Formats: sequence, C-alpha cells, structure tokens
Amino acid sequence: MIYDQIEDNKTVPLIQLIDVFKIYQMGTTEVRANDGISLKIMEGEFVAIVGKSGSGKSTIMNIIGALDVPTTGQYILKGQDVSKMKDDALAEVRNKTIGFIFQQYNLLMKQNLLENVELPLLYAGINKKKRKQIAMEALKKLGIEDKWRNYPNQLSGGQQQRGAVARALAGNPSLILADEPTGALDSKTSRELLDFLKKLNEEGNTIVLITHDRSVAEEANRIVTLRDGKIISDDIINVDKEKVLE
Ligand SMILES: Nc1ncnc2c1ncn2[C@@H]1O[C@H](COP(=O)(O)OP(=O)(O)OP(=O)(O)O)[C@@H](O)[C@H]1O
Ligand SMILES: [Mg+2]
Repeated sequence: MIYDQIEDNKTVPLIQLIDVFKIYQMGTTEVRANDGISLKIMEGEFVAIVGKSGSGKSTIMNIIGALDVPTTGQYILKGQDVSKMKDDALAEVRNKTIGFIFQQYNLLMKQNLLENVELPLLYAGINKKKRKQIAMEALKKLGIEDKWRNYPNQLSGGQQQRGAVARALAGNPSLILADEPTGALDSKTSRELLDFLKKLNEEGNTIVLITHDRSVAEEANRIVTLRDGKIISDDIINVDKEKVLE
C-alpha cells in the first residue's frame, strides 16, 4: 500500500487518532457520532474527509482541532496527548498549532479585516507592531491588503472568505483545518480557494478538509470516507507515485 511507504519515509505522524469514540446520550438512546476512529496523518498531507450528513465529520474535525475531546480513545497531536487536556491547554494548542477555516467565515463584525486577521496573533501574545506586519503579509498573500480597513459587511463573500483564510494562516499553523470551506461560495470563488489550499499544501502545509462535495475532495491527496461515525474507506489519490516510491 502506498500509504505505508509514505509512512516509512517520515517519522512521527502529525495527527494520530487511536480508537476515538464521541458518544452523546440523548435520553435513552446513545448517539455514536464517532464510533471507533483510528487515523494517522503525516505532515504535508492534504486529506479530505467526506461522508453523508450526520456521518461524524464535524465531530472528528472538532476533536482534531482541539475544540473538543473524545469520550474515549486517544488523540496525539505533534506527539502530545490532547485527549485529556483541559480547556486552557486545549486553547493553547489551538492557538499555536491550528488554523481554522469554517463554512461561515466567522469574521467578527465589529472588527475590521486587519483586526480580524490579527486576532490569533493577539491570542499568541505577539506585540502590536509585529501583529500588524504579519497580518498585512497574510492579507497580501490573499490579494486583499487594500481592504484592511473594511469591516466584514463592507466585503464581498469571496473577500470575507479570503479574510478568514488569511486569519487561519497568520499564526503560521502546523495544521490547517477547513470545514466545508467552499460551502457558501460560487464556483469561481471556490475554485480560487481550492487552488490556494493546493498551493499552501505544495509549500508544505498540512491540510484537513471536510466536504460533502466529491469534486472538492478529489483536489486532496487522500480521501477518508465516514459512515455512521466509522471510517469505511481511506484512499490515496493524486499522488506522484514515482516520488512516493523513490
Ligand atoms: N452535541 C450533540 N448532541 C447530540 N448529538 C450530536 C451532537 N453533535 C452531533 N451530534 C450527532 O452526531 C452525529 C454526527 O454529527 P456531525 O455534526 O459530526 O455530522 P456531519 O458529518 O458533520 O454532518 P453535516 O454534513 O450535516 O455537517 C449526528 O447524528 C448528530 O446528530
Ligand atoms: Mg458538519
């Protein structure tokens, strides 16, 4: 299997989920949103997680993103056991390691574009001058630096989305997580976003993307399919096989 060969070439996985369960008790019924998920993701991978509505995609993404912890099972991120961390420690992991891109852009309406992009840097304790410099660079990367003064309601949908991507990148995260990032975009804007994510991946960033759109998933290098909280397939695609087998 190609994946095993990739694994041999590198050292520790960036992400390791070991038999992760997320169980909700709804009255007398038990909902297994994640039902025994084990998954390794190496640095530099671009993984799409697909599956029908309710299959557990956002649940596992919240765990991978250190927004939530499993009911049982282990989550090791960069060699650190995240599964038993308390809120403060989780927040620190998030701020230092992860950039989020959500379906709804989640820009703060009362802050302008620059302030929005500066936010993760503020949490990371970076000083004002440096924050502005890094945030402007991120905006430049996305081609919206001239809009830095605008509030979100003064930006187009695509510009807001790019703002959210700039914010996700500003902290130079080890891992970029995107939950239905193209869900609210027209086809041209989603194409641009996908091209940008691909470019980031080619530059070495690890990306995990949730989508219910097969054509979006096919932009990744690996597709993990969930059904009823379980992984039912895990396929390597779009990989330069010569490179992998070198
Ligand atoms: N807080 C909760 N309490 C109870 N059940 C929940 C909770 N969160 C999620 N679930 C249930 O867990 C299952 C998985 O939900 P999840 O949000 O992970 O699905 P999803 O694959 O992201 O779906 P979608 O494509 O619609 O976003 C669903 O059946 C959902 O109803
Ligand atoms: Mg979801």
